[in-house]
Amino acid sequence: MSATVSVTVNGTKYDVQDVEPRMLLSDFLRDTLGLTGTHVGCEHGVCGACTVLVNGDSIRSCLMLAVQANGAEITTVEGLGTPETLNVLQAQFREHHGLQCGFCTPGMLMTGEDLLRKYPLATDDEIREGLSGNLCRCTGYQNIVAAIRAAAGKRAEAVP
Ligand code: FES
Ligand code: FES
Repeated sequence: MSATVSVTVNGTKYDVQDVEPRMLLSDFLRDTLGLTGTHVGCEHGVCGACTVLVNGDSIRSCLMLAVQANGAEITTVEGLGTPETLNVLQAQFREHHGLQCGFCTPGMLMTGEDLLRKYPLATDDEIREGLSGNLCRCTGYQNIVAAIRAAAGKRAEAVP
């Protein structure tokens, strides 16, 4: 038995029919909607590469079924900014060399975005704790932490 999944992703409404009940949200985003910015690494909730925002909370899209997202507002990395107009966090990742191969980067950005929206992130320890579910095999994390710290500062400056 298949189902219809209605979701809003990055502000665009999608009504998709005949979705297999076992289809993962990560596969739905990548294969059905063509939003391949969301990466899939471990496919069992360990690496964080597949992180997206569902109704404003960061979740692992490999641990959620597409049908469970029915009715949800989803933000993927494509919804943060564009190559021409990076958002604050993306710009700081570039500025601080917060990526190397880039495989973990969509998940790092979406987790970072969630952290920035919800917490003051006063210390590096808080940032590191918030990122503890996202694995990076390249950077050693230091530059990622620096990028998120800088983005937190920029956002604080922007608040009147
Ligand atoms: S692919 Fe989802 S946590 Fe690794
Ligand atoms: S930049 Fe390569 S895994 Fe993080």
